[in-house]
Amino acid sequence: MRTTAPVPGVLVIGQIARDLVLQVEDWPSAGGSAPVLERREMLGGKGANQAVALHQLGAPVLLVGVAGTDAAGTAVLDQAHADGLDVTAVTRRGETALLVDVVDRDGTRRLMEHVPVESLLTAQDVHEAAIAFDRADTVCLQLQQPAPALLAGARMARARGQRVILDGAIDSPARDELLAAADVVRMDAAEAQLMTDIAPQDRDAARQAAQQVLDAGVRLVAVTVPEEGDLVVWAEGEHLVPHGTAHVVDPTGAGDAFLAGLTIGLRRGDSPQEAARRAGAAATATVQRLGGRPDLGAQRPAE
Ligand SMILES: Nc1ncnc2c1ncn2[C@@H]1O[C@H](COP(=O)(O)OP(=O)(O)O)[C@@H](O)[C@H]1O
Ligand SMILES: [Mg+2]
Repeated sequence: MRTTAPVPGVLVIGQIARDLVLQVEDWPSAGGSAPVLERREMLGGKGANQAVALHQLGAPVLLVGVAGTDAAGTAVLDQAHADGLDVTAVTRRGETALLVDVVDRDGTRRLMEHVPVESLLTAQDVHEAAIAFDRADTVCLQLQQPAPALLAGARMARARGQRVILDGAIDSPARDELLAAADVVRMDAAEAQLMTDIAPQDRDAARQAAQQVLDAGVRLVAVTVPEEGDLVVWAEGEHLVPHGTAHVVDPTGAGDAFLAGLTIGLRRGDSPQEAARRAGAAATATVQRLGGRPDLGAQRPAE
């Protein structure tokens, strides 16, 4: 029998959750109620949303995260499997995280998060995913997970010579080691401030924040400039991806889609400018949808 080794893919380490997305016309006042215009219940969490986006853009994807042993955990993993994700390295324990995303007609969202401690990754969970690491060329780490799990993931990726991509911010002693291990870092504005103490309120400030992260050993950094766009900075240049004029239904998941576009671009050898444009197109498509789940199949690059 002839067997071929699987094509290496992108390993995503991050949150798996049940998403409940509700769209309302207006917020109810305290003690009041509001009719729900639209309701969606689905696989969510940053890890899963990034993984789905990467798969839609054409990458084989391996997901490392925690789903509960409850019915919600089975439902979200069934969906992840149907979405084409490899979920063999997902840990099952406890109760599945629940994210309630309520969005009004103006695209303003309020997020309520029930994230049980047992739904967070441990270093042991990541070590137990070693076989999945062996099948990846790129590892995306979501910095909302606990530092021991992130350090384990970064070290395992480094030991295998894989590309390391960070999303978010971390304010702990693990920060310097994670930045030293990373090739790419993406931060929204609040995360950039937490990571660098610089609020990226304009392009100059975003460049300063990015430069601080580049100085820590990272090759390419993306920072959100609120109301303007995302600034992508590397040693020899920078590129601002403007937000454009798309109608924002719900910004949730746009950062995760941005990260996926950037990862796909860099992985296929795009220039930083091209990868940034690809990332911006993925984010623009995602802000126009309710909930954090992307729909990027049309943006999948030709082989
Ligand atoms: N109108 C818009 N068009 C395109 N991208 C947008 C728009 N508004 C916001 N964004 C981008 O959406 C992203 C939101 O990131 P983030 O806060 O990390 O969201 P999440 O973690 O839910 O994915 C940022 O990169 C921001 O620049
Ligand atoms: Mg984000």
